[in-house]
Amino acid sequence: MNGRGRFITFEGIDGAGKSSHIEALAAWLRARGQSVQVTREPGGTPLAERLRELVLHQPMDALTESLLVFAARRDHLATAIEPALAAGTTVLCDRFTDASFAYQGGGRGFDLEVLARLEAWVQQGRQPDLTLWFELPPALAAQRRAAARAPDRFESEDQAFFERVHAGYAARATAHPGRFARIDASLAPAQVWGQIEAAMGRLGPAR
Ligand code: TYD
Repeated sequence: MNGRGRFITFEGIDGAGKSSHIEALAAWLRARGQSVQVTREPGGTPLAERLRELVLHQPMDALTESLLVFAARRDHLATAIEPALAAGTTVLCDRFTDASFAYQGGGRGFDLEVLARLEAWVQQGRQPDLTLWFELPPALAAQRRAAARAPDRFESEDQAFFERVHAGYAARATAHPGRFARIDASLAPAQVWGQIEAAMGRLGPAR
């Protein structure tokens, strides 16, 4: 089940600033001789990237949205993530299933039990070894988003939606304390990086 590579996911509400740190962590790991693959969800394969376009821009209900993000995840896991882990590559993934629990479950109010069934079905026991949760108060994230480019279907939601997404992440962090590392994303970039390094230390040496 567990490949030799490590599987590290990045989570947080839109505007938490995780993306800039993913490449930094990739460079840090490569400098230590590790083979690293950076990817994202929804997306990461040609099929999943096409599904991403639909999910981010096409109106749909919460069940359709949930099925599409898990369909994208199935393809991504089967054709990209699992082969990379089996080859000993460390996979850094910008969002994964915790985002489905936070956005579809928390934000949209979709049935958490259905999400848990999809998770079990699609992942066959695969879970991240470490999840870096960039936690930022939703009001602060909204300020950061205001300066960003044209919003997609999620970014254009109101603050109440992001409060629910935030609560969704907090619930997942409580349910999975072993793999979740909370990163205080309100701090300056250098301090955020310091917390990432500390969390990596928790992971132990590469197998
Ligand atoms: P994001 O990762 O923030 O990319 P960008 O930085 O290009 O905006 O955008 C992906 C969006 O998809 C984000 O708003 C959260 C949403 N999402 C879900 O709703 N469910 C999921 O399972 C995943 C992986 C993402």
